[in-house]
Formats: sequence, C-alpha cells, structure tokens
Amino acid sequence: MGSGARGVFITFEGLDGSGKSTQMELLADALRDRGHDVITTREPGGTGLGEAVRTILLDPAQHGMTSRAEALLYSAARAQLVETVIKPALDEGRIVLCDRYLDSSLAYQAYGRGLQVEDVLTLNIWATECLFPDLTLVLVVDEQQRAGRVAGVSDRLESEETSFFERAAEGYRRLASDHRHRIRLIDSAGSIDDVQGRLRAVVEEDLGLLPVQ
Ligand SMILES: Nc1ncnc2c1ncn2[C@@H]1O[C@H](COP(=O)(O)OP(=O)(O)O)[C@@H](O)[C@H]1O
Ligand SMILES: [Mg+2]
Repeated sequence: MGSGARGVFITFEGLDGSGKSTQMELLADALRDRGHDVITTREPGGTGLGEAVRTILLDPAQHGMTSRAEALLYSAARAQLVETVIKPALDEGRIVLCDRYLDSSLAYQAYGRGLQVEDVLTLNIWATECLFPDLTLVLVVDEQQRAGRVAGVSDRLESEETSFFERAAEGYRRLASDHRHRIRLIDSAGSIDDVQGRLRAVVEEDLGLLPVQ
C-alpha cells in the first residue's frame, strides 16, 4: 500500500514505555544528519484539535468512555492530523515520522477492547482516506521493563489492567505477522543505543534511507 505520495511515512508503535518517542527522535536526528527533510508528530495530537482530543482521551475522569466512543475519538484526531499535517508534508516530499498511528487503534481498540478488527480498520481507512505507512516499527518490551519505564504515569489508560496491555501486545504481534511487507517488530530490550541500532538497520534494509550523502 504505502503513502502513494512523494515523501516517506514511517510510524512508531508499541505499548507505552516501549521507547517509541525516544527512538523516533533519535531516528529523526540521524535522518536529518544525512540531509533528509524530516518532520515528527504524534498521536493522538499533532494538531490543535488532536491535542484537545488527547486531553479527553487521557483524562482519568473519562473512565466511563465506551469502546466505540474511544475508537471514534482516536480516528477523529487521526483524520485531522492526516489531512492538515501528514499528507501536505508527504506531498512536499518530506519524511514524516509519527509516534503512533492506525495500528494503535487496531491493537488497543480491536485486540485490546474487543471491537471487530474489520470495523476498526474500515473506520480508519475512511478517516485517513486510505493513507497507510510505508513502514511501521513496533517496539517490543516485556511487561516488567515496560512497567518500570512508565512508573508514575497515572492517566486513564495506565489505570487499565495488565491483561488489556497483554491483549494489545498480542494484537501487535498478529498485525506484524499479517502485514509483513509493512510492519516490523523491533526488540526494544537493552540500551537506547542498542535499540536504535536495530531500528536503523531495519529502516536501511526496507527503505534504504540512511546512506544518503
Ligand atoms: N532502551 C531503554 N532503556 C532504558 N530506558 C529507556 C529505554 N528507552 C526508553 N527509555 C526510557 O523509558 C521511558 C519511556 O520511553 P519513551 O520513549 O517515552 O516510550 P514511549 O514513547 O513508547 O512511551 C523514558 O523515560 C525513556 O527515557
Ligand atoms: Mg511516547
């Protein structure tokens, strides 16, 4: 599938604490050092509307939010981000790195909450006008490491039971095996530099982006 535009669209996925934000910024620096024009953004957020939706989604006071309402809120933020930020950047030939994207909805809303995978996919194909990443890097850590890295965070999602995160993690594994051409699992154990090395090797192998200049 891919972005169908001139730029390159790479997304970062995995549970909170898996190292997405850390690794994305390091990859952005590496790509910029090689002369690429890179923008980074995040979900939910990245636009005024998206950040407002993010506040609602993370608010512990919204503990009664239904799974369908939650899926729609994520996809609303995504629709705004795609149309106003991601697509224009890709049309300009830039590299777009995004911290979470539609695979998060599949992992959490479908595999985690139990909504139908087909429904969540259809909703997101509509929301994004069928914009799929060229490459999706799923960072994988075990629950003990993850819990250590997110210690102290107390938003609406972190109050979920461990089984919810286990289902989401299994969802990511299923997605990776179902979409091998696009989704790659990255072992996120070990030092930040070790992980970055593995990740760059995959970016280089799949997209050939790093040796420029
Ligand atoms: N490989 C690593 N080893 C140890 N700590 C890490 C590693 N990667 C990230 N961290 C730390 O764990 C926390 C969560 O990392 P972050 O990149 O924010 O993850 P995410 O964006 O997936 O939630 C941060 O405090 C970060 O500095
Ligand atoms: Mg993060």
